[in-house]
Amino acid sequence: MPVWERLKACRHLVIVACGTSYYSGCVGRYVFEKLTDIDVEVEVASEFRYRKLNFPSNTFIIALSQSGETADTLAAIREAKRKDASLLGIVNVVGSSISRETEAGIYNHAGPEIGVASTKIFTSQLTILTLLAILLGRHQHLSLTEGVEAIRAIRALPDQIRAVLAQNNHIQAIAEKYYKNSNWLFLGRKFNYPIAMEGALKLKEVSYIHAEGYAAGEMKHGPIALINPDMPTVAIVPKDDMYDKMISNINEIKSRRGPVIAIATQGDERVREMVDELIEIPPSLDYLNPILSVIPCQLLAYYCAFFLKRDIDKPRNLAKSVTVE
Ligand code: G6P
Repeated sequence: MPVWERLKACRHLVIVACGTSYYSGCVGRYVFEKLTDIDVEVEVASEFRYRKLNFPSNTFIIALSQSGETADTLAAIREAKRKDASLLGIVNVVGSSISRETEAGIYNHAGPEIGVASTKIFTSQLTILTLLAILLGRHQHLSLTEGVEAIRAIRALPDQIRAVLAQNNHIQAIAEKYYKNSNWLFLGRKFNYPIAMEGALKLKEVSYIHAEGYAAGEMKHGPIALINPDMPTVAIVPKDDMYDKMISNINEIKSRRGPVIAIATQGDERVREMVDELIEIPPSLDYLNPILSVIPCQLLAYYCAFFLKRDIDKPRNLAKSVTVE
């Protein structure tokens, strides 16, 4: 059967990836689960081979990779091929190994990414995964009205991203205030849980500050013990169905005198009054918020690294393309 026909019948999807690509896959899982009837698993490529995955016959494996050369991701798709799974690639580098070893796929066409730490590819991957979910969702339960609403919201993103970038100086000032703090926490829920992990990863990668990204609901199971006036928390709190729970988390942190940098929806006066610093993102659909909320995280990491005089484009010990397992 041609790929497209098989993809329409797909009810089980496994996304394999490493690093930042893995976190975009984690957002993708929530998006697919919202817009389609497909079950989605996301697996770190280096762990994939240790899983005992029994693929139903209508399973697709998506290899998500900027470079298309990451050894662990390549090894994962070779393993999946042995188990007769259908393979798709979402890669940025045209003609790369993953693009050659998968049956079909989508190119990001986002241009070369120069810095070692992935940034623009992350938002590009999120957009592609969302478009794919809309396409498949329209063959399932997603109505025409919901599909049109989604496309309109995606079209609004470039201007909305410009509005986030316009807060550049404000974000720089926040980084200047906190870059000497050596431990940071990032919290989010649902669509923004992977953004908390990606925000923490970005800060670690480029500034060498220790940071942890957590599902906000897990805060009470450990990280809360660390909260004190020297540990800033970046709380991602857009107006979505997780809002009230995130507000409770912020209260918990403030009652322990932890500084909070909130990434919240424009005009949210309630959050403004509760937190130490506020970065605003324009209102969007809940599953598109990560495309906006990740940008302040990237800029915070960038400016912390800048004030610490790190080599931002070439962080120590890291490589753009990791070709060893
Ligand atoms: C390296 C890079 C990361 C990247 C990861 C996965 O560790 O430093 O920025 O996220 O590889 O790379 P890929 O090319 O497969 O997306």
